[in-house]
Amino acid sequence: MSDSYLSFVNSAWGRRLAQTIGLPQPLPLQRHRSGQQGLANPVIIAGAGRLADEVRRIFKATDTVPAQAATLKAPSTVKVQGAVFDASAVLDLKQLDELYEFFHANARRLGLHARVVVLGTAPEHCQDLPQAIAQRALEGLVRSLAKELRRAITVQLIYVAPGAEQALESSLRFFLSRRSAYVSGQVVRLEQPVDAAPAINWDKPFSGRRALVTGASRGIGLAIAQVLARDGAHVVCVDVPQALPSLEQAASRVGGHAWALDITAADAVQQLQAYVAEHGAFDVVVHNAGITRDKTIAKMTETAWRSVLAVNLEAPLHLSQALLQGQGLNAGGRVVCVSSISGIAGNLGQSNYATSKAGVIGLVQGLAPVAAARQVTVNGVAPGFIETQMTAKIPLMIREAGRRMNSLSQGGQPIDVAETIAWLAHPASGGVNGQVVRVCGQSLLGA
Ligand SMILES: NC(=O)c1ccc[n+]([C@@H]2O[C@H](COP(=O)([O-])OP(=O)(O)OC[C@H]3O[C@@H](n4cnc5c(N)ncnc54)[C@H](O)[C@@H]3O)[C@@H](O)[C@H]2O)c1
Repeated sequence: MSDSYLSFVNSAWGRRLAQTIGLPQPLPLQRHRSGQQGLANPVIIAGAGRLADEVRRIFKATDTVPAQAATLKAPSTVKVQGAVFDASAVLDLKQLDELYEFFHANARRLGLHARVVVLGTAPEHCQDLPQAIAQRALEGLVRSLAKELRRAITVQLIYVAPGAEQALESSLRFFLSRRSAYVSGQVVRLEQPVDAAPAINWDKPFSGRRALVTGASRGIGLAIAQVLARDGAHVVCVDVPQALPSLEQAASRVGGHAWALDITAADAVQQLQAYVAEHGAFDVVVHNAGITRDKTIAKMTETAWRSVLAVNLEAPLHLSQALLQGQGLNAGGRVVCVSSISGIAGNLGQSNYATSKAGVIGLVQGLAPVAAARQVTVNGVAPGFIETQMTAKIPLMIREAGRRMNSLSQGGQPIDVAETIAWLAHPASGGVNGQVVRVCGQSLLGA
């Protein structure tokens, strides 16, 4: 669905009009395209924690221009495409001043679409109270910078547990690239990986891996199948039997396999087990299929309540449990669930949907430790307003509000959710487990 306001304020006279009367002027986001340089370049690397060496190694291992040293006192006017501040060794409130000095001096050096990452030590891993408070304070800084830097710049905080430094690379590569264009103001925790990461082919990380994506015939599910296939996976595309023609089309577009399965069917678990017995285990499972049946609760039928919970929550739970209990997921496997910011903030007319999507967050958090024992991770994404057939059904004024109520002042695209899922499903992302990451342009809802 096209965003006419975004196109208008980026046209020659629309831009002039917007400037004259002070309308918001969102920039069209730049997204990753195959063959493009992955990492932002050049970047400033600053801070002196235990992660700085790893960050420099990651940059050296790529073809990027060497990172520039931080120029705290003498800011240069040269624009940069990114900044990484290693704040993992900030021990007390006084040392927070170093972040003020850095961002005060360098904020204007950040070019359009720049990527900013602050690295920290999660409060639960800190040695004492002053350090835990200072580290927690980083969240406020990061979320504020994500709101005020504008110009399509994104800002994230990655807490890296002591000993998990080697787990940083896949996350840093994601957040410092155009793949994360619609993710901002997020806080991610990295722990010791649940598995031993194999040697990674960063261009085709899913080579030789089998993925299952539900709801893959259109919208976000189709984009997930495309991104996983682009990055080397063989994708089994699942959708309801009624969607078979578009499902087969989707599967052939990604060179995968179409499987017509209603995930709420009474024998769906048995069908999955039989499929695994015949074709082998999966490396990646993405529970994307979802439905809405919106009504305020007094007007909502029992069928509308039950069907939404069945598709969005019960099916992913039963299928995940069956895969984990049987031999349905290989070691190093990844389960990714699709929640929603409705599940975080609640939404008028969506008590069924929000219940199901909040339940998905519970599923992720509850299954993650169980899965870790099998060297599998379980994570989730919570999309905000994404331009799909689902959101095209929303009445115009509400749709327009949904698009603008975030720091990037626009809706996301299915590929934004897909790229985030590909990061969580990445073979090198074994240190990310039990997390739910919002793909919402830092939506004001539930913030
Ligand atoms: N579009 C958004 O703004 C948005 C925001 C937050 C979350 N989400 C979530 O993202 C996911 C994808 O959303 P979308 O916008 O692409 O929706 P969509 O309606 O375009 O696609 C959903 C797909 O799921 C399939 N599906 C539904 N019931 C199924 C079942 N029982 N078995 C198998 N497949 C089934 C549908 O046939 C469809 O192909 C959903 O879980 C949705 O709740 C979307």
